[in-house]
Amino acid sequence: MSLNFENLTENVGSEVTGLDMSRPLTDDARDRLERELAERSVLLVRGQIDLTPEEHIAFSRCFGDLEEHVLQNFCLPGHPEIFVVSNIVENGKHIGAYGGSKEYHSDLAYLPEPSMGSVFHCLECPEEGGETAIVSMSAVHDALPAERRDWLSRQSAIFDYVWQYERAHRDRPELTEEQKARVPPIGHPAVRTHPVSGNPALFLSEIWVRRFEGVADEESQTMIREILDFATRPEFTYVHKWQPGDVIIWDNRNSMHKACPFDEENTRRRMHRTTIKGTAPFFRAEAA
Ligand SMILES: [Fe+2]
Repeated sequence: MSLNFENLTENVGSEVTGLDMSRPLTDDARDRLERELAERSVLLVRGQIDLTPEEHIAFSRCFGDLEEHVLQNFCLPGHPEIFVVSNIVENGKHIGAYGGSKEYHSDLAYLPEPSMGSVFHCLECPEEGGETAIVSMSAVHDALPAERRDWLSRQSAIFDYVWQYERAHRDRPELTEEQKARVPPIGHPAVRTHPVSGNPALFLSEIWVRRFEGVADEESQTMIREILDFATRPEFTYVHKWQPGDVIIWDNRNSMHKACPFDEENTRRRMHRTTIKGTAPFFRAEAA
């Protein structure tokens, strides 16, 4: 395999050419993809329309073990590693997660060991809308005013899945006590060090972050809103316009993403996501 990388924007994203995801990766190709992902937050691979769920899973496993989502009712039958994101209804039931993810987040950030990244495969998409927007949180970190950056580097952000679910998903079934017990509130460093690149990145999102530790909810929410207004400026963002067969790999350790709106009544969007396990976020202050 002869891999090539081309920047998608100045601060975020690389398009990969020369990669056939259905074939086993060499160690060298794996390492190059891992390093490029750590630097650029997002990799785009086009032309993978025939990628099977088995091949999707095998490729993803080159980067680590895979998560099985807390919402098993939205996983692909027979493939619990594949989380279906879709607005499609079959036999009166949604085939995948719907109506969520329109706000910036990184996947499974509310777990003690948030996922490392995701491999997101487009099978069907509308002609308009439904893009995925991705923000480089390392570029945002570097561009923040020094005083704000230093303050954030000393904060723990409290991620609370149940708090978010109960305020945002009134249309979904209530969580069972067993599901709630799997996702208690958790504190993560608001600035985390990337384990591969060593670069610091902001670790916040529009959902799940209830407050900074020791700061009241309301005051925290005002600050988070202000920081995220800065973070979502166009210069830190790549917006991907999907075509069937596109695959995006994103690094949850230095980016956040969201789905853009589309006509959910009259068009179809069907995406398969694998989610690679990660390790506990940490912050390592740079030597003075
Ligand atoms: Fe997501």
